[in-house]
Amino acid sequence: MLVNKYIIFFIRSEKGTFYALDLGDTNFRVLRVELGGQRSSLHPDVEQHPIPNLLMSGRSEDLFDFIASSLHQFIEKGNDSEQSPITKELGFTFSFPVNQTSVSSGILIKWTKGLAIKDMVGKEVAGSLQQALARKGLNMQVTVLVNDTVGTLALGHYHDADTVAAVIIGTGTNACYWERTDAIIKCQGRLTTSGGMVVNMEWGNFWSAHLPRTSYDIELDAESPNPNDQGFEKMISGMYLGDIVRRVILRMWEESDIFVSVSSKSSMPFALRMPSMAAMHADDSPELTEVARILKDDLDIPDVPLKARKLVVKVCDVVTCRAARLAAAGIVGILKKIGRDGSGGITGGRSRSDIKMRRTVVAVEGSLFTQYTMFREYLQGALHEILGEDVARHVILMDTEDGSGTGAALLAASY
Ligand code: BG6
Ligand code: GLC
Repeated sequence: MLVNKYIIFFIRSEKGTFYALDLGDTNFRVLRVELGGQRSSLHPDVEQHPIPNLLMSGRSEDLFDFIASSLHQFIEKGNDSEQSPITKELGFTFSFPVNQTSVSSGILIKWTKGLAIKDMVGKEVAGSLQQALARKGLNMQVTVLVNDTVGTLALGHYHDADTVAAVIIGTGTNACYWERTDAIIKCQGRLTTSGGMVVNMEWGNFWSAHLPRTSYDIELDAESPNPNDQGFEKMISGMYLGDIVRRVILRMWEESDIFVSVSSKSSMPFALRMPSMAAMHADDSPELTEVARILKDDLDIPDVPLKARKLVVKVCDVVTCRAARLAAAGIVGILKKIGRDGSGGITGGRSRSDIKMRRTVVAVEGSLFTQYTMFREYLQGALHEILGEDVARHVILMDTEDGSGTGAALLAASY
């Protein structure tokens, strides 16, 4: 995809106040990062804005105007005299599939997750933002357009030079990794085959006939806004896990007498969200009172007997465990591709069996990873199981909070 490796090494000497925008799903973030000229710990100011429902399926111009206004207000609020001069370079994290045409431009291929602004598909993303900035009188230039995985990789690398890949496990899921250019099929035969590149995998859309799908997965997919799309994501990411659990609960009610009654609310897609699922899963009270409360509040199912509450926890466990193991398999796939799985690797057909297992850092961001303890434990467990202890102890999953946006600000600083 994009981003020459040298960018990440340059960013340590930049000075100034850098801004980034991060549009990922139903929220977007505005970020400000102060760079002092040498490698230091970063404490970005981050402001999060929920995107109004109307804008999520309306006109692209309205969405970008809203984003530009929020940036304008954010800059005005933070514009005190002690701050370093505001730089004009703006990093833009846009967490959707893009046909990247340069480091600062790309065309939206399709929406994933919750957004559905039809007139934007096929349009140049950074250009649309640039026009909105001009309409608001903001003299800033979108110098970097990146996927959230790429932003996270940049921040991961800034903190730890052994970072070779980045994974997002939040509302959606995706990964990117650092690859030698000559090992990328699309780059073969081109003049510049030396050096390396970051490959944005868009693994959320991975599919294989070897992945068994349950009837719940099939129904969820068929009723989703994007059927036959993002199959891997629909089994792993935070947007969908709660809905799988909700569908299992409904089926249990239909086919058994374990739930006395369910309401129309429990038939609403996405009525059960991942944070509620995580809270039910973590409930260790003898009566599972949190489970009872969430079933009542979120799905309007009252008076659930203890036996049924236990079953709900078990369902959360199975669904989470499957998601974590699939994500782990994806991570191992990357490690294998770049020869960091301890087996020699398959990069460019060249054996790397002579390379000893090196410290390998994978930067990870996303609410499922950071907020769902059992998911994280299952993910770690599966990595150890697949790789074996000797290799797995060299693989570090690094929590990279706000990595997607902060990384974009860092990359903007290098242009
Ligand atoms: C991306 C956003 O879509 O998802 C990022 O661009 C965000 O800002 C990442 O950090 C993970 O967050 P979440 O909210 O989906 O868990
Ligand atoms: C979706 C998007 C992808 C993004 C991921 C995580 O899968 O298509 O671009 O990286 O969500 O936010």
